[in-house]
Amino acid sequence: MTMLLEFKQVSKQYGTDTRALTDVNFAVKEGEFVSIIGPSGAGKSTLLRCINRMIDASSGEIQFNGTDILASKKSELKRLRTQMGMVFQHYNLVNRLSVIENVLHGRLGYKSTLEGILGIYSKEEKHQAYTILKTLGLEDQVYKRCDQLSGGQKQRVGIARALVQNPKMLLCDEPIASLDPNASKVIMDHLRNISTTMGITVIVNLHQVDTALKYSDRILGVNKGTIVYDGKPTGINREQLAKIYGSEIHEQQGELDELDELKDLIDLKELEGSHAR
Ligand SMILES: Nc1ncnc2c1ncn2[C@@H]1O[C@H](COP(=O)(O)OP(=O)(O)OP(=O)(O)O)[C@@H](O)[C@H]1O
Ligand SMILES: [Mg+2]
Repeated sequence: MTMLLEFKQVSKQYGTDTRALTDVNFAVKEGEFVSIIGPSGAGKSTLLRCINRMIDASSGEIQFNGTDILASKKSELKRLRTQMGMVFQHYNLVNRLSVIENVLHGRLGYKSTLEGILGIYSKEEKHQAYTILKTLGLEDQVYKRCDQLSGGQKQRVGIARALVQNPKMLLCDEPIASLDPNASKVIMDHLRNISTTMGITVIVNLHQVDTALKYSDRILGVNKGTIVYDGKPTGINREQLAKIYGSEIHEQQGELDELDELKDLIDLKELEGSHAR
């Protein structure tokens, strides 16, 4: 497997006194499913947003598919961004537009400004958008306005909009933080499926440790802007969690209680040679 994404000594400083990331190093393989966990304010969103340069890192190097993102000029960056779909906690949909119109917005990165303004999409693009919506179980919602959808449905539209870009990678910032457990499971199952069957790399920021352990090939634990854990979900124990969450460990107490049980399950599934989910 080749490396798709590589962070080398990446730091990010906001203003003069907030250091959000310090000397971050990691690499992600093609097709990998990586979860980033850590307490509030650890730098998870900053890290994710540095990848597509929604936020500019202050120093270091970010390689994506062999190109240095930080050194990329505007047109090159536009091209690279088509390969990185972004999924947001609050969906970022245009509520007064239909589902299919929102999904087609994922094609804007491939168009001139004029084509974009006029909303010119080819038959193939519309067909692809419909096919993706069908895969995500939204074939009956295609012409509905987005403000008529449930949160879980909105997030599936968000995923469809990212997929219609034909990305190599999906960046998901707290994709299930606003959803109930059932809708969360549907979204995580879809993301895992996208990684496994389409070979798309998925990087997801999560607050829920149990979900991260269940779905991921790899966990990045972030504390105060540095990576304090980089490894398999099975390597996460109470000691590692304490390192990641520090003094905020109590916030994860409920999940800690379930951790041992969950890890037994993962071990068992690994023995059976399949993923636990
Ligand atoms: N635009 C900004 N200007 C100044 N400081 C910022 C900005 N965005 C984030 N920060 C600070 O950078 C640090 C990391 O923030 P970030 O949003 O990346 O954390 P996070 O891990 O995503 O937190 P959460 O779990 O609450 O979403 C925090 O101290 C935050 O206050
Ligand atoms: Mg965040």
